Amino acid sequence: MPGLLSSPVCLTVIWFLSWSLRPIRAQIQPDEVSGVQYALLESNVTLACRKSQIRTPVVWHHNNSAVLPWHKVTSDGTLVLLHVDLSAQGNYSCYDNGGLLLHSVKLRLGHRPGSLSISCQVPNHTHVRCSWVESVKTFLPAQYNAILLTVKGQEPRTCVVDVFQKHCDIVLPAYWSYIQTLSVQETNALGSETTYARMHLHKLLKPNPPQSVLVNELEGFPKRLNISWELPSSWPQSLGYPLLFHIRYRPEGFVHWSKVLAEHSPVVILDALAGRFHEVQVCARDEPDSESLWSEWTAVSLCKPWEGVSSPDPTEVFPTDDPFPEPQTSTTKTDPSVSPEDEGNLGLVILLVLFSVVILTTVLSLIFVVWVRQRRRNHVTKQQLSSMVKMKSMPI
Ligand SMILES: *[C@@H]1O[C@H](CO)[C@@H](O)[C@H](O)[C@H]1NC(C)=O
Ligand SMILES: *[C@@H]1O[C@H](CO)[C@@H](O)[C@H](O)[C@H]1NC(C)=O
Ligand SMILES: *[C@@H]1O[C@H](CO)[C@@H](O)[C@H](O)[C@H]1NC(C)=O
Ligand SMILES: *[C@@H]1O[C@H](CO)[C@@H](O)[C@H](O)[C@H]1NC(C)=O
Ligand SMILES: *[C@@H]1O[C@H](CO)[C@@H](O)[C@H](O)[C@H]1NC(C)=O
Repeated sequence: MPGLLSSPVCLTVIWFLSWSLRPIRAQIQPDEVSGVQYALLESNVTLACRKSQIRTPVVWHHNNSAVLPWHKVTSDGTLVLLHVDLSAQGNYSCYDNGGLLLHSVKLRLGHRPGSLSISCQVPNHTHVRCSWVESVKTFLPAQYNAILLTVKGQEPRTCVVDVFQKHCDIVLPAYWSYIQTLSVQETNALGSETTYARMHLHKLLKPNPPQSVLVNELEGFPKRLNISWELPSSWPQSLGYPLLFHIRYRPEGFVHWSKVLAEHSPVVILDALAGRFHEVQVCARDEPDSESLWSEWTAVSLCKPWEGVSSPDPTEVFPTDDPFPEPQTSTTKTDPSVSPEDEGNLGLVILLVLFSVVILTTVLSLIFVVWVRQRRRNHVTKQQLSSMVKMKSMPI
């Protein structure tokens, strides 16, 4: 940041900006003609009654009442309000002895702008929206001037401000310089403050979540789910920016997610748990730029894999993804006669079988490793040993 700000181009731009904004500031400074006087909260405020210093007594009213905040009146009739708070705002009028109105002014109190905390969102390669939050509540209306300063001598770009939402938008050409500085100047009647935010736009690139996520069963496949989605509507469809998608899914009630990366919709997952509802979510990221951000996850979609057969055949119990090509399965597809208990039992048996297969494989590999070590110790010749290792590593 200091290096950037000390570059001559940048300094020139900043000087030009502060110079060009000076007249705006002058326009809304304390102004007798408009009848509004601005002052700092907690300061002493001086309200003059008349220009000439005639020493006749005057009477001041606040909001048409003779009750005034903590104050003193000088000999020439000037009202000094001491250590003002917000309740001292309002209309002040001074009258002469005869009740003639001499002067009236509206007092508004507040603070000078403080620094802003700026954050930017980049939902696609051509759009940047920056919003800000004030560190100081000023109580006064403000104007904002937001400019994106690019580094390599390009012209600064105006960020179009929405005063009420406190954000600004820039539409960039598709090719953007990677490091940019946004300057936001806040100006009110009491002063002005400029805040700079340095950004790597490409690191802020964060698509909106994909849309229209659909999770469907695949007829004949009790362990498959077909997941499809559409690009976020704010992602340009035509300009050829590829997105990478991240799909995560888990049976309802499970803690851990299974994850799949995909470049296109749809994706068919093959290892769903038969008979269980699955939670599915998708998010997206600019495919070529791994430094850019993943979108938020889509809302959870729920779906259960296909359950076609009402009478569980023992062969189906084994973890298999074989299709069920019999045409009659389609008629039983919507048959609600499968009791939830059966589904639960089937799922349990599959889990148990899978579990024992894993245990068995682990035990066998351990035995194999121990056996190989033993052989080594028994001074097998180097040649034999190396051929053994080859044999061992071949099937892995
Ligand atoms: C305001 O006036 C009071 C009384 O004259 C003085 O004690 C105080 O220091 C003044 N405060 C400021 C901020 O000038
Ligand atoms: C102050 O004066 C303005 C203009 O004369 C008037 O519109 C407004 O109602 C007044 N406010 C109060 C609180 O008296
Ligand atoms: C006077 O009126 C202003 C609004 O015009 C209000 O903010 C302020 O609180 C009022 N003060 C008193 C003492 O009535
Ligand atoms: C998966 O779903 C999508 C959208 O509903 C559909 O176009 C596609 O054909 C489905 N895939 C299979 C293998 O059925
Ligand atoms: C980029 O995102 C913005 C904000 O969502 C949107 O208004 C704009 O149309 C998008 N640009 C393209 C080319 O899709």
